[in-house]
Amino acid sequence: EDENMKKGLLSVTPSEECEEAAGFGINKDDSTVSITVVGASGDLAKKKIFPALFALYYEGCLPEHFTIFGYARSKMTDAELRNMVSRTLTCRIDQRENCGEKMDQFLKRCFYHSGQYDSEDHFAELDKKLKEHEGGRVSNRLFYLSIPPNIFVDAVKCASLSSSSTNGWTRVIVEKPFGRDSESSAALTKSLKQIDHYLGKELVENLSVLRFSNLIFEPLWNRQYIRSVQLIFSEDFGTEGRGGYFDNYGIIRDIMQNHLLQILALFAMETPVSLDAEDIRNEKVKVLRSMRPIQLEDVVMGQYKSHTRGGVVYPGYTDDKTVPQNSLTPTFAAAALFIDNARWDGVPFLMKAGKALHNKRAEIRVQFRHVPGNLYNRSFGTDLDQATNELVIRVQPDEAIYLKINNKVPGLGMRLDRSNLNLLYAARYSKEIPDAYERLLLDAIEGERRLFIRSDELDAAWSLFTPVLKELEEKKIIPEYYPYGSRGPVGAHYLAARYKVRWG
Ligand code: NDP
Ligand code: BG6
Repeated sequence: EDENMKKGLLSVTPSEECEEAAGFGINKDDSTVSITVVGASGDLAKKKIFPALFALYYEGCLPEHFTIFGYARSKMTDAELRNMVSRTLTCRIDQRENCGEKMDQFLKRCFYHSGQYDSEDHFAELDKKLKEHEGGRVSNRLFYLSIPPNIFVDAVKCASLSSSSTNGWTRVIVEKPFGRDSESSAALTKSLKQIDHYLGKELVENLSVLRFSNLIFEPLWNRQYIRSVQLIFSEDFGTEGRGGYFDNYGIIRDIMQNHLLQILALFAMETPVSLDAEDIRNEKVKVLRSMRPIQLEDVVMGQYKSHTRGGVVYPGYTDDKTVPQNSLTPTFAAAALFIDNARWDGVPFLMKAGKALHNKRAEIRVQFRHVPGNLYNRSFGTDLDQATNELVIRVQPDEAIYLKINNKVPGLGMRLDRSNLNLLYAARYSKEIPDAYERLLLDAIEGERRLFIRSDELDAAWSLFTPVLKELEEKKIIPEYYPYGSRGPVGAHYLAARYKVRWG
């Protein structure tokens, strides 16, 4: 640690929100937190983890004594790591004073060690460096595994062995997907817990507030009034450079089995006994266990292919040098799921997730049934077939909740129009929404488990997907190819049409 840090010049004052969120017990004693980002050379580390750590530092949410280490096989010096990290840091509100200075201070606390993920010796070298920085204080260690899941177990073993002589806590955050199927997940569950960063998204956290603290939604939240529910995840970029991880997993394991299914469980669960993490998880498990395993005919898979637009060539999935040329890994999937309980019997829950599509969005779309005996259809012959109410919860970007309603067009005649009752977050709240990873890292430092997935939840989630994933892989089903930047394969529309639904 540099001179300034020793003098305490770089300590930060926790913001009120941070104190409230984190309790901040950790700041008050002579302890230190060492955060090691394992897989620091990768996509997630660059895009999310380092920026989230900086945001927490900027807000004063990290304890006074902390050090960050990057660890991966790639060779890098401390200066090269800082250079790589510096390119991804942003200030929440650009004009805030001292942002550049804070970035420099933050970067001085970042170091790098190169090693193999399964080498106890290399982790022992890291331990030696961590000890030098910890300077004899009570040492708490957080390892963030930002690597492909098939190497989790080795890395956890080495990380925990290397930290066995420390006198504080050691925590390991493990990313999704947790395993490849029910069996590999069960093997991992014995020792580890998994996170799902979608549970930390503002609008996903708000889902329960919307449902359980507004009288008008809960009475309608069932098969009598809801015709279908859609869970949509779409990205307008491909998997560039991530083949080392992605090709072995595919979009169903990457997004559907975890992020979309977690949202579905929160959406569809019964009212929990309390807001305690365990009570909520109990309800999520119940709803997951009431679901039918997915059938092969209810799944559509796609893979993006190269497309030229405006003279620009957008590469196909297999054009990436980290992806095998003959890969059948899906980069798009759509599926229909069903919950066999009294509340949701017969209501299709349609999921769609894809890379390299025409837009970036994550949404929950709730389509309500037709108004029975609609007076306006009868009196005016107005075609209201398409005009059922729809509630849209836009998780990102441009976070919003809006309800599509039918409305009279102002004037002397009687014409109906579809309008939105709209809660656009940016218009209502001036405060920037924190990234899910900030919440997650703070919770991990504080030992709060609400964003972690319990092992029985995982078992239930894998039971739904494992049989169909096995079937798709055994039968070597070829995905439908779709052009980079398009709306995805047409098969997804046929699937929705089978359930008399249109994608929103
Ligand atoms: P990357 O492909 O970027 O892999 C991360 C690092 O792991 C690489 O830099 C590489 O480091 C090492 N690595 C990659 N492939 C292998 C391999 N086959 N064997 C050994 N080491 C390998 O993946 P991501 O960062 O995208 O994803 C990592 C984890 O994070 C996954 O579990 C994913 O589900 C999760 N995740 C990713 C998100 C994202 O936006 N990218 C968001 C949420 C979760 P080196 O070669 O230097 O050792
Ligand atoms: C990760 C997936 O879990 O989520 C990535 O591995 C995906 O493939 C990412 O890009 C999306 O996260 P966010 O927060 O940017 O929507």
